[in-house]
Amino acid sequence: MDLIIKNGEIVTADKTYMADVGVKGDKIVKIEKNLKADGAEIIDAKGKYVFPGGIDPHVHLNLFFCGTYSEDWDTGTQAAACGGLTTIIDFAIQAKGKTLREAVEARKADAREKVCIDYSLHGGITDWNERTSKELNYFVSNGIPSFKMFMIYRKEGWMADDGILFQALEETKKNGGMIMVHAESAFILDMLIERYQPQAKKLGAWGHAVSRPCFTEYEAIQRAITWAGITGGRLYIVHMSTGEGADAVRAAQMRGVKVWAETCPQYLLLTDSVFKRKDGHLYATCPQIKKKHDQDRLWKGLEDGEVGILATDTCTFTKKQKDMWGGDFTKIPYGLPGMETLVPVMYSAAVGKKKISLNKFVALTSTNPAKLFGLYPKKGTIAKGSDADIVVFDPNKRVTVDYTKLATNCDWSPFQGMKLTGYPEVTISRGEIIAKNGKFVGKVGRGNFVPGKPGGNI
Ligand code: URP
Ligand code: ZN
Ligand code: ZN
Repeated sequence: MDLIIKNGEIVTADKTYMADVGVKGDKIVKIEKNLKADGAEIIDAKGKYVFPGGIDPHVHLNLFFCGTYSEDWDTGTQAAACGGLTTIIDFAIQAKGKTLREAVEARKADAREKVCIDYSLHGGITDWNERTSKELNYFVSNGIPSFKMFMIYRKEGWMADDGILFQALEETKKNGGMIMVHAESAFILDMLIERYQPQAKKLGAWGHAVSRPCFTEYEAIQRAITWAGITGGRLYIVHMSTGEGADAVRAAQMRGVKVWAETCPQYLLLTDSVFKRKDGHLYATCPQIKKKHDQDRLWKGLEDGEVGILATDTCTFTKKQKDMWGGDFTKIPYGLPGMETLVPVMYSAAVGKKKISLNKFVALTSTNPAKLFGLYPKKGTIAKGSDADIVVFDPNKRVTVDYTKLATNCDWSPFQGMKLTGYPEVTISRGEIIAKNGKFVGKVGRGNFVPGKPGGNI
């Protein structure tokens, strides 16, 4: 063996137990008590948890959006590694009139020299014709079984209308793929933005909140669920932010509709009062951050199971980039940093506050995304034969979130000042130690593309 993690408490989605983990090359080869060193490198994990590497299934690196580029693959994935992530899933968004294949090839080329942890891709469908349906079927059985569709972003040229959504869902009933929707009501939203724009200077960042009321999300969620129910297709609600959205997902699941949902730390830990802050524009993301009752309902959704995945929707912009808004809420680059803080912030808020069990935490941040997006059991668990993607997590380490100490190339954090107990100490990716105590120690460009399989479930 090359590496042994000794004396730690292994935590998977279904059990917690004491054993050593033996790694050879890039795989876990032994899980036993008292493994003999025999020349292997030893990590002493006494008093620590041994988690499967975190998986964030919703990130946007080096994405040209709102007139600027989000944080690039290199610093973005170094930061992710420091925060205990070993796999991310980004998006290859089809340009209107172009093929999905072109988008996928371009995204892979963009990541190749820079990505520091393993990654997979969701397709992004913005257009529909016979060629797109053939491509969807091709990718479902060739490594990309999931596709995001934006129900908004008309002016960006990304919006997929209901006709496209319906037809794509029909395909996933047959081929086991997954249609992920960014659910907001395009026409109502655009009308409301126009209505509030004359008051933009007076409203400031609050304009972002008032122009995107809860119904602009849950109407779209209900509509997408209706199409999934009628077609029998497989639907995933990304970055769900409303309590009513969670109600709709739960009701649909009870009726047997194939629908799953993710939420993000910003919707669980922040409220729209952030938009009243002097620097409130920094927090602008879509969908916008909602109210305390939405927060409470989303937490319940995690506990009860209708919300099965924690993701970040990371799309990191610096203060200078956010300053492009010039006081007009319609011009803010939308998106937040988050990969580096996902595991530690949610561990403290969920496990630390006894809202969610340790095993469920691992399910939400690793096993469930691996299962749903077809990466399991290569990723998402600690088992013999799985990739040695492992996090040694110190449950007692006290840390105050401070962007100046984070590895991300960003000069602010939505979670600045939060007091945490518990932090990743060592991150191992395919048997290689890549981050230690918040510092990236791996090689830039070492990440691999990991193909996903269709038909995932949780
Ligand atoms: O505001 C956000 N969320 N930016 C990233 C793009 C998206 O809609 O997911
Ligand atoms: Zn989105
Ligand atoms: Zn997103």
